[in-house]
Amino acid sequence: MQYDVILPAAGSGKRMGAGKNKLFLELANKPILIHTLEVFEKDEACRAIFLAVKSSERSFIQSQLQKYNITKVNEMPIGGDERQHSVLACLKVMDTGDIVLVHDAARPFIEQSTIHALIRKASEKGAAIAGVRAKDTMKRVSNGRIEETVERSSLWMIQTPQAFDFELLKEAELSAEAEGFLGTDESMLVERLDKEVYVVESNYENVKITTKEDLIFGEAILNRRAGGK
Ligand code: C5P
Repeated sequence: MQYDVILPAAGSGKRMGAGKNKLFLELANKPILIHTLEVFEKDEACRAIFLAVKSSERSFIQSQLQKYNITKVNEMPIGGDERQHSVLACLKVMDTGDIVLVHDAARPFIEQSTIHALIRKASEKGAAIAGVRAKDTMKRVSNGRIEETVERSSLWMIQTPQAFDFELLKEAELSAEAEGFLGTDESMLVERLDKEVYVVESNYENVKITTKEDLIFGEAILNRRAGGK
């Protein structure tokens, strides 16, 4: 089953403190953004990539696409102040009626098997998102004081990719926009419509590169993969 992917890449990455878009930082001598793009470039089920970018970075990214021979980027709309607005900017230039996947450009270690499991689930159920089981004991804290220990077995840490029927995601995004609702992921917007969303178990390597420590973790993952393990 074929799909299109939206990659929001228009963030500022302040928590990285790199003084530039963290997606341009390199892991194994290649920008993080290119690592993520290559996953979809190589996946035969991926039809087209929609990449939300900052206007000031557009021409640099264009040159990087040429340098690394990334050919599937269909459109590069200008992203917004919030991630949700960057995703919406992509949806507005798309006209497909199939399955669409949303994936943070800052998660370069996503595996094809997870992507394909999400596509299968979303085509069956309408909405499916990647997640992993919470590993630590979870507590609700208020003003530094424990309020309660939350039952862990039903808690999942949610990642991207998140896969949806295209019309469902578009309806959810437009409705959130009309009502001024800002979510932290696409699933929240779909949940607001009282639609069911399913989780597909991903893995702990699918980290979002956020702080400097994540770069060390990222290099380790790439080294291990380069060794064929
Ligand atoms: O900042 P954070 O890492 O949580 O952002 C997740 C993804 O969303 C990143 O790939 C980032 O470039 C993108 N983003 C965006 N537009 C924004 C904020 C973040 O495209 N306004």
